[in-house]
Amino acid sequence: MNDTQSENGNVAVPDLTKAQAKQELDRLAACIDSANTAYHRDDNPDISDAQYDALKRRNAEIEARFPALKRDDSPSERVGGALAEGFGKVQHALRMLSLGNAFDDDDVQEFDQRIRKYLGLAPDAALTYTAEPKIDGLSLSLRYENGALVQAATRGDGSVGENVTANARTISDIPIQLDGAPDVLEVRGEVYMSHADFAALNRRQAAAGLKTFANPRNAAAGSLRQLDAQITKDRPLRFFAYAWGELSAPLADTQSGAIARLDQLGFATNPLTQTCDSPDALIAHYRGIEEQRADLGYDIDGVVYKVDDLGLQSRLGFRSTTPRWAIAHKFPAELAWTVLEAIDIQVGRTGALSPVARLQPVTVGGVVVSNATLHNEDYIAGRDGNGAPIREGRDVRVGDWVQVYRAGDVIPKIKDVDLARRPVGAVPYTFPRTCPECHSDAIREEGDAVRRCSGGIICPAQAVEKLKHFVSRAAFDIEGLGAKQIEQFYTDGWIATPADIFTLRARYGDGMQQLKNREGWGEKSAGNLFDAIDEKRAIPLARLIFSLGMRHVGESGAALLANHYTSWAQFEDAMTAATVGEGAAWDDLISIDGVGAVMATSVITTFQQEAERASIDQLVAQLDVQDAAQRAMDSPVAGKTVVFTGTLEQMTRAEAKARAEALGAKVSGSVSAKTDILVAGPGAGSKAKKAADLGIETMDEASWLALIETA
Ligand code: IVH
Repeated sequence: MNDTQSENGNVAVPDLTKAQAKQELDRLAACIDSANTAYHRDDNPDISDAQYDALKRRNAEIEARFPALKRDDSPSERVGGALAEGFGKVQHALRMLSLGNAFDDDDVQEFDQRIRKYLGLAPDAALTYTAEPKIDGLSLSLRYENGALVQAATRGDGSVGENVTANARTISDIPIQLDGAPDVLEVRGEVYMSHADFAALNRRQAAAGLKTFANPRNAAAGSLRQLDAQITKDRPLRFFAYAWGELSAPLADTQSGAIARLDQLGFATNPLTQTCDSPDALIAHYRGIEEQRADLGYDIDGVVYKVDDLGLQSRLGFRSTTPRWAIAHKFPAELAWTVLEAIDIQVGRTGALSPVARLQPVTVGGVVVSNATLHNEDYIAGRDGNGAPIREGRDVRVGDWVQVYRAGDVIPKIKDVDLARRPVGAVPYTFPRTCPECHSDAIREEGDAVRRCSGGIICPAQAVEKLKHFVSRAAFDIEGLGAKQIEQFYTDGWIATPADIFTLRARYGDGMQQLKNREGWGEKSAGNLFDAIDEKRAIPLARLIFSLGMRHVGESGAALLANHYTSWAQFEDAMTAATVGEGAAWDDLISIDGVGAVMATSVITTFQQEAERASIDQLVAQLDVQDAAQRAMDSPVAGKTVVFTGTLEQMTRAEAKARAEALGAKVSGSVSAKTDILVAGPGAGSKAKKAADLGIETMDEASWLALIETA
């Protein structure tokens, strides 16, 4: 051994030249960073604790000898405790919601009309909105108690977010202490990074040999979600406040007043926020903001409109995941041209064969795109679902120059093709007639735009996609069991159906050895996985329904079903009893506001398929399903069946129904022995008489409102 080298082959610290030391510090920072990622984020350590400690020690020794070379993001500055924890979970006192979208002027007019209809306002009645930029960052909820910032949480799935309090404290736009605030105040807004700061950060990252970020939003998210708050501190994050959660006292009577109050309390609020008295004024403000977009110095992706009167906001309330009183008017998509290198077929969890365009990478609105959707076989061929031409009938071929289009978060699409640049010999694309994964026939049913693999559960692609959906964030969200692990377990035959996840410990637990010895698993991560699985046995009904991955049943559909049936037993009984298109169970199912015949048919059909049903039963036997609407269950009308009749004077029918359902009541159109309450307005006729005959409790609108107001 050369005597300037230590046992591990490194040059001994006292012998390092300055240049070597600098190089060594960069190398150590990268090694430690990668070890941290493997350990904390991926739960998959790639070096031993002793090796990790040795890296940290050497780093500290070199820094002690060459203090001037210490990196801004030195690994020795990391707080050990904070690193070890990962992020805690935070249950939001009030859910953090998303927004519905408007893509053109008509959508904005319809938004206004919908609101007027719901509130029973005449087309010419005064109605004020606020309009403000939609910031392209990530939302954050800040909780202040007696003026002190006590908690900051990301949105997460809307109900549960990540605790990033230490990180939020490092953001200078976020006050740590407030004067004159309500005792409990949750301020919500967007964390973002300016264009200039983003460019500077990427330059620093590149110079240090670290990963660069695709866009300011990713940079903001990556910077806020650092286990080490010291790193967040060095990243120039900013914050705009635009909403609130729990409050011990109202901020104001109007949205604009509340924002002004937040501004007074010391929050940054967006200077382009304005009140507007008509949809035309909203659109005019939108155009104005669009013109300034490039000069703002930060990314925005649209303009958000909100009903200004908070009393009206509360009457309008929410759909399952979005408020009725707000909408995001998005900017048009961004476009670019590139070469289509190949068309791949992916098989989804419902067997759909989806063509994916593999592209020569191209930047579209600041993001590098190399894949895009081609929708279905008709779309490639240049026709719509009815056989009518799209793109004037131009088909898409491998080798073509294609136009890529990207709108916000949405998956990029292929919009057009340039025939002038079509290579000689390019051939029309033939859509496969068999499943590329299991070779079963791929069938296209009449009226369906999509060709589907007929292999069902035997198709590995469908089974794996179903499992991936099952563990996804909005479904079971099992820590340590993501898409990658699902693929591994499926390939090895350990997990074939969702129920298998919950028997994993029983089947392999004693032999944890087996899991532990497999690539990518250590004793700690194996034990953590089993615990994480057990933690999710208690699952809210809506999540369970969503996780089943039934066609047409998304997160909001699942929430509607859960709120209506409230327990798994009642949901299951109803679906077992139901027949597509007829009978009481069918009528009841499609009476749910937001559930149409398509969703209803899909759910009933799922329950009728033997293999599917067996798989669901096995799964549910492993779980402790929590009833829906715990909050609603506490209300005086929870579980009651209510009928509205006659003229309602203080609210529209739609509003009456939505409010009753939000409190856990069932709203029915006809009076029967099952009816608990009849709310009768002036002009009530036969229904009131029938209710009287049946001895059903009858009340007027005012009494009903008084009753539900106590909720
Ligand atoms: S209001 C209940 N205002 O957009 C409504 N959201 O697509 C709460 N966002 O999750 C949201 N700028 O992260 C609102 N001025 C703005 C916004 C804004 C950006 C984000 C927010 C939200 C997402 C919905």
